[in-house]
Amino acid sequence: MATKRVVITGANGQLGQALQRTCPEWAEVIPLHRSDCDVTDPDAVAAQILPLQPAIILHCAAWTNVDACERDPLQAYRINALGVQHVAAIAQRVGAHLIMISTNYVFDGESAEPYHEFASPHPINVYGWSKLMGEEAARALCPHHTIVRTAMLYDRTSRNFVTTVLRLAREQSVLRMVYDQFGNPTFTDDLARALWTLASKGVYGTYHLVNSGHASWYDWARAIVQIADLPVAVEPIPASAYQRAARPPRNGVLTSLAAPALGITLPDWEDALRRCLRGES
Ligand SMILES: NC(=O)c1ccc[n+]([C@@H]2O[C@H](COP(=O)([O-])OP(=O)(O)OC[C@H]3O[C@@H](n4cnc5c(N)ncnc54)[C@H](OP(=O)(O)O)[C@@H]3O)[C@@H](O)[C@H]2O)c1
Repeated sequence: MATKRVVITGANGQLGQALQRTCPEWAEVIPLHRSDCDVTDPDAVAAQILPLQPAIILHCAAWTNVDACERDPLQAYRINALGVQHVAAIAQRVGAHLIMISTNYVFDGESAEPYHEFASPHPINVYGWSKLMGEEAARALCPHHTIVRTAMLYDRTSRNFVTTVLRLAREQSVLRMVYDQFGNPTFTDDLARALWTLASKGVYGTYHLVNSGHASWYDWARAIVQIADLPVAVEPIPASAYQRAARPPRNGVLTSLAAPALGITLPDWEDALRRCLRGES
């Protein structure tokens, strides 16, 4: 495959780093960090990306602190919606394929079934709304776009649920975890490899990419401490007992019709967690 120049926004984030770790030979990656390219600043986005003339833009930059978004909605829309608008406009100008990363939080979680790509979004918190508005900007402004929704991302070193549970398990004898909210824990390296496959195929549209299977926060925490062999008890609590600014969807489980049609299926979430905790990719 001929070499293609690929810009990654939010390159310091956990997915941005995984994309760089798993980069295929055909990709000439240009990582952009917030300090070079603040996506809320249209002039900075144009000045950084236009001269690069990328073939692909993997837009990973986002404000992912869901509770902080709830407390500061304008900043959430600025980064997660307007930021996509700026990047999508430049992608359109240079004729790049824009791959925008979105979230399971665009759904309200009221369905009894996992959400596929053609389910109707209806967010219940500011983060979800801001990401949905970002999706709409990508669809409206850049004809060559792919929206990839994912969930519950983690790696071995960033600040995320896995590293938080590992830290708490060393500080406390009992961890209380929510048992009635569900999603698909997804290892960044598995998602990154699937994104590179999608990018190499040059396909457009909306895709759900998550590790297979699903778990509650409680299931996920139990698996982490079991695999890491940490002597800590994990007790189930209802979401109603855990006060937080934003309400996550009760059912945040994604499934995919579109990715398997391309031959893309991510590994089982527990296998992925074992690999991650062993320090493998
Ligand atoms: N984390 C999850 O569980 C999850 C679940 C579903 C979907 N997603 C989506 O997946 C994508 C990647 O998430 P992630 O977990 O890798 O997030 P992350 O680790 O929080 O990384 C996000 C990156 O975006 C950068 N950023 C924030 N504001 C910016 C701005 N104004 N301009 C430029 N860069 C900015 C951050 O820069 P700094 O390093 O300077 O802070 C950070 O490097 C995001 O689109 C997110 O919405 C994440």
